[in-house]
Amino acid sequence: MSRQDRRTQGRRRAVRARQKAAAREREALERRFVGRLAWRRELEQLVSARGAAPEPRHRWFPYRQGFAPALVRRFLEQAERPPGPVLDPFAGSGTTAIECARQGVAAIGVEAIPELAAIGAAALLPPAAARLPPPPAGPEQQLGALAARLHEPAHRAALLIALARSVRGDGTPRRHLPPLGERLRRCWEVIAEDLAAESLRARAWMLAGDARRLPLRAASCGALLTSPPYLGRFEYARLAAPFAALAGARASPGSGPQLPAARHADAPAAGPPPHPAAAEACARLWEGGRRRAARVVAGYVRGLAQALAEAARVLVPAAPAWIVLGGAFVHEVYVPADLIAAELAERAGFRLEGIEVARALSASGGRRLGGLARVRPRESVLRLVRLNGR
Ligand SMILES: C[S@@+](CC[C@H](N)C(=O)[O-])C[C@H]1O[C@@H](n2cnc3c(N)ncnc32)[C@H](O)[C@@H]1O
Repeated sequence: MSRQDRRTQGRRRAVRARQKAAAREREALERRFVGRLAWRRELEQLVSARGAAPEPRHRWFPYRQGFAPALVRRFLEQAERPPGPVLDPFAGSGTTAIECARQGVAAIGVEAIPELAAIGAAALLPPAAARLPPPPAGPEQQLGALAARLHEPAHRAALLIALARSVRGDGTPRRHLPPLGERLRRCWEVIAEDLAAESLRARAWMLAGDARRLPLRAASCGALLTSPPYLGRFEYARLAAPFAALAGARASPGSGPQLPAARHADAPAAGPPPHPAAAEACARLWEGGRRRAARVVAGYVRGLAQALAEAARVLVPAAPAWIVLGGAFVHEVYVPADLIAAELAERAGFRLEGIEVARALSASGGRRLGGLARVRPRESVLRLVRLNGR
C-alpha cells in the first residue's frame, strides 16, 4: 500500500471514529432496546386520528394530532377496571376522556390549550344540553360580541369548533370558508344530534392545565393513557391561533404550558436535558449552528421528564400506563424520543412492560447512526406499570 493510500485510509478511520463518538449515546440507547421493540401493524390506524371521524362526540372536532377512540377501547380491555379515573395529561381534543365516559369508565383530561379543553368538556355534557335553542349567530367582524353572548358550554364549543375549522390540521389557514354564521349552525347541528343520541355511562372531566403540574392529589388516578406532543411534527401553539381572536391577542408559540416541540418554538435556555441521548442530540444541533432547535429539544425532554414524574405522583401503585410517542429527525439529527421517554419513565417510577411500534415516521430509508446502518424515528406505544412505593 502506498503512503498516499495509507494516509487516505487513516483519514477515513478518523472520520468514522468521530461519527461514532458523536452518536455514542443514541446508538447505545437503540442497542439497549433492539430486542424489546415489537412491531404491531394493527396499531397504525389506532395511533392516528383517521379512525375518529365517524364516531359520535369525537367527530365534532377532527384533531389531526389525536389518536383513535379504538385505541382507548383497546387500552380499557387490557386495563380491565382501573381502580380510579383514567388520566390523560396531554388530552388534546379529549379522545381518552370522551371514550372512557362512553365506555363507563371515569376519566380526567388535562390540556394546555384552554379552548381545546372547552371543546372536550362540551363533548362530556349530558343529553339535556341538546335541548338548547341553536346559538345566536353573528358576523365574523363581531366575534367578540358574539362570544360574549354564548354562555352555554355547548354553544361556546360550537363557536370554537367553527373557528378551529378555519385552519387545516397542520395549523395553516384554510381559504374559501363559508361565513362564520353558517359554520356555527352546521357545528351546532352535529353537536345537538350527538348529545341527544347517547348518554355517557360514566363521569369524565376536561381541565385546562399543565401536565407538568397537575391539579390532582397524589395516588388519585387509576390508569394513564396519553400522547405528548411529537418533536418537530406539529406546531401545537399555531393550532390555537384561530381562538386568539376571542381573547383579542395572538397566540404566541412557546408561551403558557405548551411543551416546546416545534422547530420555531421559543424555548428558554436552561441547561442540558435530563438524558444523555437527548443531551448528545442537543450538542450535535448546537455544533451545527441550530441553537434554537437545540433549546427546543432540551426544553421538550425536560418537559417530558417533569410530566412523567407528575404522572407517577398521581397514579396509584400498579396502575397501567400507555404513552403514545414518536421520535424525530430534527434538522437531520436523530432524536429517539420514544426510547428516551421509556428510560425517563423508568427513572420516574414505572416498570416498562414493552414497546409496541405502530409505524416508522420517516419516509426515507433511514440514516446511519454511529455503528448502526439505518435508524428511522418510530411512532410507539410504551406499555408501563406504576411501581409500588416510589
Ligand atoms: C399529541 S396531542 C394529544 C392528542 C390527544 N391524544 C387526542 O386524541 O386529541 C398533544 C397535546 O398536548 C398538549 N400539550 C402540550 N404541552 C402540554 C402541557 N404542558 N400540558 C398539557 N397539555 C400539553 C398540546 O396542546 C396537544 O394538544
